[in-house]
Amino acid sequence: MTTYRHDVLIIGSGAAGLTVALNLPASCRIALLSKGQLTSASTWYAQGGIAAVLDETDSMQSHVDDTHIAGAGLCHDDAVRKTVENGPEAIRWLIEQGVDFTRFDQGDGGTQGYHLTREGGHSHRRIIHAADATGVAISSALIHQVEQRDNVERFEHRVAVDLIHAGDGTDRRCTGAYIHSIETGDTDVFLARFVVLATGGASKVYLYTSNPDVATGDGIAMAWRAGCRVANMEFMQFHPTCLYHPKAKSFLVTEAIRGEGGRLLLPDGERFMQRFDPRGELAPRDIVARAIDHEMKRLGADCLYLDISHRPADFIIHHFPTVYAKCLQLGIDITRDPIPVVPAAHYTCGGVMTDLNGQTDLPGLYAIGETSFTGLHGANRMASNSLLECFVFGRAASDHIAEHMDAVAEPPAVPEWDESKVTEADEDVVIAHNWDELRRFMWDYVGIVRTIKRLQRASHRVEVLQKEIAEFYSNYQISNDLLELRNLVVIAELIIRSAMARKESRGLHYMLDYPEAAESIKDTILVPENFSGAG
Ligand code: FAD
Ligand code: SIN
Repeated sequence: MTTYRHDVLIIGSGAAGLTVALNLPASCRIALLSKGQLTSASTWYAQGGIAAVLDETDSMQSHVDDTHIAGAGLCHDDAVRKTVENGPEAIRWLIEQGVDFTRFDQGDGGTQGYHLTREGGHSHRRIIHAADATGVAISSALIHQVEQRDNVERFEHRVAVDLIHAGDGTDRRCTGAYIHSIETGDTDVFLARFVVLATGGASKVYLYTSNPDVATGDGIAMAWRAGCRVANMEFMQFHPTCLYHPKAKSFLVTEAIRGEGGRLLLPDGERFMQRFDPRGELAPRDIVARAIDHEMKRLGADCLYLDISHRPADFIIHHFPTVYAKCLQLGIDITRDPIPVVPAAHYTCGGVMTDLNGQTDLPGLYAIGETSFTGLHGANRMASNSLLECFVFGRAASDHIAEHMDAVAEPPAVPEWDESKVTEADEDVVIAHNWDELRRFMWDYVGIVRTIKRLQRASHRVEVLQKEIAEFYSNYQISNDLLELRNLVVIAELIIRSAMARKESRGLHYMLDYPEAAESIKDTILVPENFSGAG
């Protein structure tokens, strides 16, 4: 087993982690980790684009207002303004890094040579994109840049197990993490003066999700175990339109299709969104997902439909080549046929509490991107604001780290990972079964529509699973599946506790027992037993 030493340990290679790595000074020795290849991140799969004020008919105030409205009154104004005001600069930076956004070549909605599309909740065209594969364009460009940097050491197929922290009270500090290699089975010590959690969201806690396998909430669970507060975990966002097909695992059908005129239809071809919201198909995501869920349950339908076939075929193929190709592979020609769709878990609005520089409660530890709770998203994230948050807060954190680098000493040595008291697991079926059970009851009991009774049921199940998993963890050698399950059960507990604490319906949290929004508006802040004050 090895001990590695760097100035900054960045756990995660999506938009957040890559942004931090590229904005730190070249003198800084960086370790950049990913659970799979560097591309194994939600960022790679992003379709619609990035929201930013880029058109002269748009305004910062309008983007701020739309974000607050979508967030159902719970967004923090300072986080919203910081994100929106830094949006145009973030886009300029991405273009400098080589991201090739779609040019303004046909139709309306272009600016400064780039095409802008629309998505739910936005009152203007303000989504810059690379057709419907924005994530591939961003990840490819930023990974290419990282590969040119001598100061960034890349570690793929490495799973962070737990954070290392030293000291007590005001002296406490995060000094690294134990990192498990999926390839060798070793667990090494990574020490660093600063640690950045950029581990993405937790939507894999649900049976059906748009997210890749890595989205198991590891960063949130690790920070919680290390004594950091976590906020607003009840606000799990369900994307209204994921492809419904037995052979399509987790495939999203971008909201930009609705932005360009796509219509949601019942199985008999009737359009229905106007019945739920005057903004129709472009209402914020919580409203559209709930409307689809309601209609599916009312009609006993397995899916509903999204239809863009009234637009010219060359427009559809030009703007949505990824969705077009994927659907065609499965026998659906979207230039002629409606697309079968269902809602699926998509985005974790809550997360590790941070300040506006991404600092968590534990000094030396930052949380950036989907793993964080900055206050930007409130009770429902507006479409395409999440990538923007990664770039703006990633930049802020790297500036803050660079400013404080000289004041922080090299971390002290720590004991190696001890495997002397555990044996090789002989019953992997237990892990597989618990994974399945957890994700299924989260879907059934803690999904789009909740009740007190269902939450109580889920809470009892989580308690039982937690005991079993803790026992497994203390007796057997670790594996990626076990580590993810251990984290997912923490995530489930945090979501259920937060959902039980919110006795109202607001944004993504809809309770049949409390159908109205309460008058007082507050975040749900969970405080761990080992919390010893905000950083
Ligand atoms: P991610 O991109 O998920 O990266 C997380 C990284 O952490 C990965 O490298 C992963 O391997 C690593 N990791 C996780 N756990 C560990 C661990 N224990 N040890 C080591 N490494 C670990 N948002 C938009 O704004 N616009 C869009 O168009 C858009 N489209 C989307 C489409 C899809 C299909 C999905 C799933 C999401 C979409 N989103 C979109 C949301 C957005 O993509 C994500 O919120 C954003 O990419 C998150 O970036 P991130 O860097 O925080 O995390
Ligand atoms: C999409 O393209 O529909 C996803 C956009 C987002 O999640 O912000």
